[in-house]
Amino acid sequence: MTYRVVHYGTGFSGTHALRGILSHPELELVGLVVHGDDKVDRDAGELAGLAPIGVRATRDLDAAVAVGADAVCYMPTTHGRFKAALGEVEHLLESGINVATTAFGLLINPAAARPDVVARLDAAARGGGATLLSTGIEPGFFSDYLPVIMSGCSQRIDSIRLYELATYVSGDQSDETSFEICGFGQPLDVVPPIVDAAGMAPWEGCVRSIATQLDVVLDAVEHRYELLPAPEAFEYQGRVIAEGTIAGFRFEIAGKVDGVTRVAVEHITRTRDDQAPHWPKGLAGDAYRLVIAGSPRLECEFSFSEGEDHLAGGFNINAMRAVNSIPALCAHDPGVISTFDLPPVTGRGRVART
Ligand SMILES: NC(=O)c1ccc[n+]([C@@H]2O[C@H](COP(=O)([O-])OP(=O)(O)OC[C@H]3O[C@@H](n4cnc5c(N)ncnc54)[C@H](OP(=O)(O)O)[C@@H]3O)[C@@H](O)[C@H]2O)c1
Repeated sequence: MTYRVVHYGTGFSGTHALRGILSHPELELVGLVVHGDDKVDRDAGELAGLAPIGVRATRDLDAAVAVGADAVCYMPTTHGRFKAALGEVEHLLESGINVATTAFGLLINPAAARPDVVARLDAAARGGGATLLSTGIEPGFFSDYLPVIMSGCSQRIDSIRLYELATYVSGDQSDETSFEICGFGQPLDVVPPIVDAAGMAPWEGCVRSIATQLDVVLDAVEHRYELLPAPEAFEYQGRVIAEGTIAGFRFEIAGKVDGVTRVAVEHITRTRDDQAPHWPKGLAGDAYRLVIAGSPRLECEFSFSEGEDHLAGGFNINAMRAVNSIPALCAHDPGVISTFDLPPVTGRGRVART
């Protein structure tokens, strides 16, 4: 069976998703929605860096889905447009169109998201006969699915800790991500959105998801963060990060039982590899490290790349978790679901043929 898909958003992850839809044997791209003026009316194949395919990009989501779509792969930003984005997704679900998205980290674990938001989306989905899945790389695969699957190798688990260890190299992510969400170059007394309570909520959802899957009742979830001051001024993505301003950050979300951390997610983010030598680093560049302390001790370091570009590998994983879930999502009963409601999302149809 082939599912008709409209893709929305051609940013760092979205462009990988577009290519991923075009190369998936069970998916057919029938529409593309973009925001940038320079992208409107351009061919989707061309925007994916491939040959033209005859699907033109539009700003009009309603017009794009009017051709008849089974699913929308929803990947625009929600930064500064959260309510509008939520409204778009609600409208799609009411119209009977399934949605796979990486844009709503809060919904990766629907049980931990705001109940009124989930109730509204779930009602729209059930009313329209559609399904919504929020997924991604982190929050997503590395902080909900993989730790739970790996825990099946354990006899006793003292704690589960997951690290994202990344250098956000200049130019390898959007200005919005670098300067607005992560706050690079801002004074140290600014709290960047990525480390405020709302910013960390998606990862808290993942900590709670692991606990739920392993039948652990957390009695507290604590957040903490530290900002890294730039040791000197340096050029970064067309701007200057001044000495003493934010050049990186570290945060932890710890799920506790009787005062003991049982599940934790920690992020360590630099803007240059030579910063903060006292903070943990990936063994071979950017990586996710998963440590299950107990019997036996399990430790897994997961690195990824796209040629020389580590972050691009991460954006590709982020996109593929959503794209590869679309066939199972379309076959699922209506409602707002989590990754644990679906059969394992695999690389079916992705193995290269000569
Ligand atoms: N869960 C995870 O692990 C994870 C990881 C990375 C990203 N994400 C999320 O996944 C989504 C896509 O990520 P990305 O890496 O592709 O982000 P990105 O590179 O920052 O791209 C931003 C996208 O938003 C679109 N956009 C900008 N302003 C808009 C507006 N006012 N209305 C509608 N669309 C607008 C852009 O449109 P154009 O198509 O015209 O460029 C572009 O597609 C984002 O929501 C991001 O937060 C999640």
